[in-house]
Amino acid sequence: MVKVKVELGNRSYDILINTGILSKIGEFLLSFNFSSKVVVISNPTVFGIYGDIIMKSLKQAEFDASYILIPDGEEYKDYFWCYHIITQLLQKGLDRKSCLIALGGGVIGDITGFVASIYMRGISHIQVPTTLLAQVDSSVGGKTGVNHYLGKNMIGTFYQPRMVVIDISTLKSLSKREFFSGLSEVIKYGVIWDLHLFEYLEKNLEKISDLSDSYLFNIIKRSCEIKADIVSKDERESGLRAILNFGHTIGHAIETETEYKRFLHGEAVSIGMCLEAEISQRLGLLDIDASKRIKSLIASSTLPFQLPDGVSFSKLKLHIKIDKKKEADKIKFILPIEIGKVMIKEVKLEEFLDIYEKKSSCC
Ligand SMILES: NC(=O)c1ccc[n+]([C@@H]2O[C@H](COP(=O)([O-])OP(=O)(O)OC[C@H]3O[C@@H](n4cnc5c(N)ncnc54)[C@H](O)[C@@H]3O)[C@@H](O)[C@H]2O)c1
Repeated sequence: MVKVKVELGNRSYDILINTGILSKIGEFLLSFNFSSKVVVISNPTVFGIYGDIIMKSLKQAEFDASYILIPDGEEYKDYFWCYHIITQLLQKGLDRKSCLIALGGGVIGDITGFVASIYMRGISHIQVPTTLLAQVDSSVGGKTGVNHYLGKNMIGTFYQPRMVVIDISTLKSLSKREFFSGLSEVIKYGVIWDLHLFEYLEKNLEKISDLSDSYLFNIIKRSCEIKADIVSKDERESGLRAILNFGHTIGHAIETETEYKRFLHGEAVSIGMCLEAEISQRLGLLDIDASKRIKSLIASSTLPFQLPDGVSFSKLKLHIKIDKKKEADKIKFILPIEIGKVMIKEVKLEEFLDIYEKKSSCC
């Protein structure tokens, strides 16, 4: 088992990574000073597969463990379901020393973290991510939240978990499409931070796609190290952490334009990464070979790499304009300048459209 530390002073925590460690959760929890009441928050899909293992482990460690399930889907990551969870926590008598356990993908992780941050002004929680996206991204770093009907993740907090437990073997039951959507975030880490990771992905894509344990272990560990490093340096996204948004400015606009129905998050981010790399190339910041390598790795990962029919840059511009990252009439883009390095660049909205139009007239 490997431990990756997220260094945040007295809020530091470990990310434990291995295969088959779900059955050890009870044991891990004993090292904290929690009261005996712990509640697992999950959905029927994930709990149906892993609920027994985790509940057995908690009971063996003599916790008074119970669970709360919410329906499976992004549409349930909202205030209503938060309220429902909180009602049940009160009915179960959870106090300030109790602990919540988020068992599932990013949806469960985000809502559980948010509830933990507001229940009785904050109680402990543990993240047990079961999708690749959640293992390499959403479970680490303390962004929690739920959606408002006027915007995604519009209600939320920064609130760190006490521990993250990543059992790689849970990825075996995940659909291939969800798996590759998560891989998109791993590719992102390669582009923004680590050429070696990018090369490792290029070289070993087949074994990774076959879910070979040691290869999965390596990419998950490295991704967590990168995210932990960035979050430790800039927990609240006042500077550096923004580089994690590479591909997301355009990605979010694509998700909004297609009403979150056509693409999974990582798929939209994949298109965003290709287009943002192209913008960087157009601005003379990234050489064409590097841009092609990014696109090629994304395409080989069976991820989409271009705008879908019916979605134009001018439509995306409208969404970007109301995105929370917009400052005045400028868009803050994270642009790769080589593989493993990015810069934060403000591009005027008009310039953004020009770049695209130049591209379509010449390519
Ligand atoms: N907090 C952050 O920093 C952060 C970062 C990125 C994304 N997010 C959020 O994460 C969410 C997306 O997360 P996601 O991609 O994990 O989606 P998800 O949580 O909806 O999970 C995807 C699907 O996989 C199923 N599933 C999960 N684990 C499984 C397993 N091991 N076997 C079989 N099925 C399994 C789920 O039930 C669901 O149907 C979004 O709400 C997004 O806003 C948060």
